[in-house]
Parts: sequence; C-alpha cells; structure tokens
Amino acid sequence: MKNLTFQNGNRMPVIGLGTWKSSPRVIKTTIIEALKIGYRHVDCAPIYGNEKEIGEAFKECFENQILTRDELWVTSKLWNDSHREEDVRPALESTLSDLQLDYLDLYLIHWPVAFKRGIHLPKNPESYYSLNEVPLAETWKAMQSAQQAGLTRHIGTSNFSINRLQDLKKTVGQGPELNQVELHPYLQQESLLKYCRENGIHTTAYSPLGSMDRHRSMKKDNDPVPLKNEIILKMALKKDISPAQLLISWQLHRGISVIPKSTNPGRLQQNFDAHKIVLSARDMDEIRSIDQHRRIVDGSFFDCREKGYSMTKLWDE
Ligand code: A2P
Repeated sequence: MKNLTFQNGNRMPVIGLGTWKSSPRVIKTTIIEALKIGYRHVDCAPIYGNEKEIGEAFKECFENQILTRDELWVTSKLWNDSHREEDVRPALESTLSDLQLDYLDLYLIHWPVAFKRGIHLPKNPESYYSLNEVPLAETWKAMQSAQQAGLTRHIGTSNFSINRLQDLKKTVGQGPELNQVELHPYLQQESLLKYCRENGIHTTAYSPLGSMDRHRSMKKDNDPVPLKNEIILKMALKKDISPAQLLISWQLHRGISVIPKSTNPGRLQQNFDAHKIVLSARDMDEIRSIDQHRRIVDGSFFDCREKGYSMTKLWDE
C-alpha cells in the first residue's frame, strides 16, 4: 500500500476506511475486520455518531496485538459547534476519549461553517455564528495549539474551497497539510486539486463511490450514480475488476488518498485490494470525460443567508 508523506516524514496509507453512515451497531465488527484485512487508516468524525464503538474496536485490536498504535493512521474532525478558540481543545479531547487514543494522526476542521455550542444540525439562523463572529483563522490557531500540545500530529481542513484555503493562508501562515473533499468521476474538481498540489496540501477523496447509502433527504431524483456509469461499468468489466475498485484506483492514480466506506467483509477486502490495480493514461482520459461537476454533499443543509452562508460562498461557484 502506498502512502502520502507529510512534511515531517509521517506517512498516511492511501486507502483508508470511511465510517460516515456506518451504524454504531455494526462498526465495531467492521473495524476489527478491516484491521485484520490490513487497513491501517481509519477516517472518523464525532458527527458520525460511532466514535465510541470505533474506540472499543481499536482497544480490542491493540490488546490482541493485531497491530500497534503507531502502525495505525487515525483521522477525526472538529464539528461545527466547536469553532471558538476555547472549544477546540475540549472537542478534540472528547474525540480522543471516545476513540480511546492519546493522540490523533490528523484532525480536520469538518466544514467552514460555525454553529453555537451544542448544535449538531442547525434549525434556524440562531444556530449559527457568522464567519465574522468566529473567523476560521481563530479556529485554525486553536487547531495549531492542539497540535503543539501533542493531541494531534497533523491538522487540516475538509470541505474547503480554493477561496477558503487562500483566506486561511493569508491570515495564519502555516496552513492545512491536507484538505478532504467530495470527489468521484461526476465531481472531479481538477482546479481545487491543482491548487492543493501547488501549495503542498494533500487531498483525500470522500464519497468516492457516490455514497448511495446517504439519507434520503440528501438525494435528488436525477442524481447520477458513479457505480452505474456506462464507461465505468465497461472499463471494469474489461479489466475484470469491480466498478468500485476502478473508482478507488482512479483516485490513487490522481495522487490522492481515498476513504471508501463499507461494512460488508467481502467489499472491505475488495476495496482494499484496489491498490494493486494499474490504469493507463488512456483509462484516466476516458474517466475524465465523465465529469459533470455534480455534488452529492452540496452543503445546502447549511444555507443561511442571514449569517452569510450560501452554497455559492461555500464552493466559490
Ligand atoms: P456497504 O457498506 O453495504 O458495502 P461511499 O464510500 O462513497 O460513501 O459509498 C458507500 C456506499 O457504497 C455504501 O452503500 C456501501 O455499501 C457501498 N459500497 C462499498 N464498497 C462497495 C463495493 N465494493 N461495491 C459496491 N458497493 C460498495
């Protein structure tokens, strides 16, 4: 398995296990299974509601010597209700306690959107702080302090557009080492990837398989399905691999990491094995032609003009 190398030499395996939408009822078994298969990178977040169960699985695997802590890369994310300077460290400590870890490998600001403390999902404008009230630079400085205190080895962002990354760079000096965003053949985001490459920021792809299991409130009738795309189906058949393996391998060939979610043992193995697949420049060109710039996680649930949040501002488009 290849790695993405960070500035201090730490290495993150390019395929990680996504845990968004994994039920707390099954995630413990899933994590144990995944670590036995050989996954060494797990992507978490408190808003997914399953970090305690993931922590139980980590503990059991360390005790049973399936792996040691330093062989595992764990990412988690700061939820939107903890962006104020004084709230960042307690949020990170709570995640560490749930995951039963002393440190994270990577901690990300989950969204460039700030809520009042204790708000999981916003109900009205009163749920929000504007970015003037709680600037991302304030949150970032607290992330840097948490890193200096040893609670996380690396810090980064998620769902940040080029404008947000540029704003942060202007105000804070040392910016994120990684940005995690939605990426699949229907949303290829070449310009964001180029900006990140040129500025020494790694990228991780979330929803690489199209997140078909997302809540119905996040689905539209005409949403395209990457796993059912004609070009993907034909190419996968020709190569004798599954469409999911092709989608995962395609991300690796773009020089980024990818976090497919599965709770099914066969599919966990299949997704892990995708790192062995080789694609040609022609395959890459063909997949490039699928792009429609269509988002699954479009951020419309954070639309709040009164507090300065809109999809246009979120994505610079
Ligand atoms: P399951 O968990 O039952 O395997 P994403 O990673 O884009 O969020 O997509 C996750 C969705 O893709 C889930 O519905 C998951 O179902 C499904 N999935 C994961 N791996 C595969 C695979 N190899 N083939 C088909 N579907 C998959």
